[in-house]
Amino acid sequence: MSDSPFTPRVFSGIQPSGGLTLGNYLGAIKRFVDMQEDDFETIYCMVDMHAITVWQDPEALRHQTRELAAGYIAAGLDPAKSIMFNQSQVAEHAQLAWIFNCVARMGWMNRMTQFKDKAGKNRENASVGLFTYPALMAADILVYHATHVPVGDDQKQHLELTRDVATKFNHDFGVDFFPLTEPVIEGVATRVMSLRDGSKKMSKSDPSDMSRINMTDDADAIAKKIRKAKTDPEPLPATLDELSDRPEARNLINIYAALAEEDAQTVLTQFEGKQFGDFKPQLSDLAVAKLSPIADEMARLMNDPAEIDAILGKGAARAREIAHPILARTYDIVGMIQS
Ligand code: TRP
Repeated sequence: MSDSPFTPRVFSGIQPSGGLTLGNYLGAIKRFVDMQEDDFETIYCMVDMHAITVWQDPEALRHQTRELAAGYIAAGLDPAKSIMFNQSQVAEHAQLAWIFNCVARMGWMNRMTQFKDKAGKNRENASVGLFTYPALMAADILVYHATHVPVGDDQKQHLELTRDVATKFNHDFGVDFFPLTEPVIEGVATRVMSLRDGSKKMSKSDPSDMSRINMTDDADAIAKKIRKAKTDPEPLPATLDELSDRPEARNLINIYAALAEEDAQTVLTQFEGKQFGDFKPQLSDLAVAKLSPIADEMARLMNDPAEIDAILGKGAARAREIAHPILARTYDIVGMIQS
């Protein structure tokens, strides 16, 4: 970052395509909050245009976008410190995405594993938007000249494509205009896995609600899901190495550590030799203590949708102030007359 001419700027986004889970909170939003407190300019988006690459019921989309905004704020993002808005309110994202659709190559998109996963067997029936999704994501990032992007491991390939787009654009037009953005990939420590299957990421789209903790779950639901979480009959060992082939146990230790803001080894040392019957109630108490205040604040915010919309509107106006000149310069580089 030191030798880059670009000011350090963080951008990240979450799709409002379902409810918020503990995975979004520990893996993403909590890190967004930490970066807000550092010397970065921070921009956090609800990427509603990405969400509609697969079908979204309009009422549900509106609700989920507000709920995501409420989650950001309840978890500690401060609209005075971070720019927060929903993507569709800043048209520059879509405008730059079109340019990038013309920079990126079919071959690049064809290699994207998220497209293959989401399109499944019936590719002919996937939306065209799902295919060009990564070009829009590159635009999200580069329309702010963002230098750092905190994301999950599954987004690494999209970040590489973002760098490829920047490189090709700069090369084709003979400029040094777009930065090569650094991914800030989450570590194992904050990656939250399904409560039913320790090899799968906790997901809002998993058919089983028992596989995840939702940020809106009440204390009873949290306790029940942790009680029923898949484990094994062995007691907790002394070292993390001994958990390497026990993904469900490792996941619960990780969740405890992330919520307690301790490292996983410290937590393991504390519970060494204990059975899950002893550990789970303590994890449950900790989760309830940490998550209930956030759920309460989200509920309070959701009672006043106009207030949330006003925050998003103000965020969008601030975002546009950064994005507009960058888009104007891009059009100019490409040779488009703007009179
Ligand atoms: N594709 C990301 C995800 O599914 C969401 C996203 C869209 C994003 N645009 C972004 C993340 C820009 C970081 C930066 O998680």
